[in-house]
Amino acid sequence: MHGEGFIGVFDSGVGGLSVLRAIRELLPAEHLLYIADSAHAPYGDLTAERIRDRSERITRHLVEHGAKAVVVACNTATAIAVEHLRTLYSLPIVAIEPAVKPAVHRTASGTVGVLATSATLASPRYAALLARYGDRARVVAQPCPGLVERIEHGDWDSADTRRLLQAYVAPLLAAGADQIVLGCTHYPFLRGLIEDIAGPAVEVLETGPAVATELRRRLSAGGLLLEQGRGEVRFLTSGDPDRVAPVLTRLWCEEVMLGTWFE
Ligand code: DGL
Repeated sequence: MHGEGFIGVFDSGVGGLSVLRAIRELLPAEHLLYIADSAHAPYGDLTAERIRDRSERITRHLVEHGAKAVVVACNTATAIAVEHLRTLYSLPIVAIEPAVKPAVHRTASGTVGVLATSATLASPRYAALLARYGDRARVVAQPCPGLVERIEHGDWDSADTRRLLQAYVAPLLAAGADQIVLGCTHYPFLRGLIEDIAGPAVEVLETGPAVATELRRRLSAGGLLLEQGRGEVRFLTSGDPDRVAPVLTRLWCEEVMLGTWFE
C-alpha cells in the first residue's frame, strides 16, 4: 500500500471503526487499512479455533502487504487469538480488552457492569482480567447475543434494538452498576442509546482512545511513527460490498474506498 508501511486494523465487521476513528484522530498522518471480516461476523458465535484461524489469515494478509503494525480492533479476537498472533509475528500487535481496570477505579457504587460477547466473557483472558482487578469492585457481566448483527445491518436506533439493549442493561442497573464497560468494539455505536437507558448517574466507558494511545506509544518506541502529512484510509471486506459499503459510510461519516478480500 505504501512505502513507509501502514497500520492494519481488523474486526469481525464494522465495530472496529470505533477504534479506527480514535486512531485517525490521534495519528492523522498514518496510512490505515481496515479489514472488516463481514462474511464471518459475528465472531462471538464462532468456535475459538475458527476465531484464531480468521485472525491469523487476516494478520498474514496485512503483514504480507506491508503493515508495520496491526491493531486487533475486536475484543473477541483479542480474547481468543492475540497470544497466538504474537507467537507468529514480531511486528507490534496492539489489542483491546474491556475497560475493567479504569471502571473499578472509577466506581463509587462498588459495582461495574460489562457488556461483551459471550465468547469474550467465556475466555480465559477475561477470567485473568477479572482475577487482576475483580477484587476491587463487584463486576457484573452481561453477554449481548444479537447486538452485533443489528449494528452490522445498520440498525442502531430501531425500537427492537432499544428493547434488546434495555434487556441487557437492566440487570446491570439492578445490580447497582454506576460504570458500564463497552467490552465489544461494536457497542460504542449504540453509546447514545445505552446512556439514554442507563441515565446520567452511570458512566459509559469505551476503549478505542486508549488503544490509539498505546499504538502511538508502540510506534514511537519502534521509530515507526509518521507525523507529517495526512494518511490514506482504505477498507476491505470479506462480505458483500453492496451491503457493507452503506453501513461503513454511515459510521465513518465520509465516502469510503472499499475493496473485497476473500480468504
Ligand atoms: N467487535 C467485536 C468485539 O469487539 C465483535 C465480536 C463479534 O463479532 O461477535 O468483540
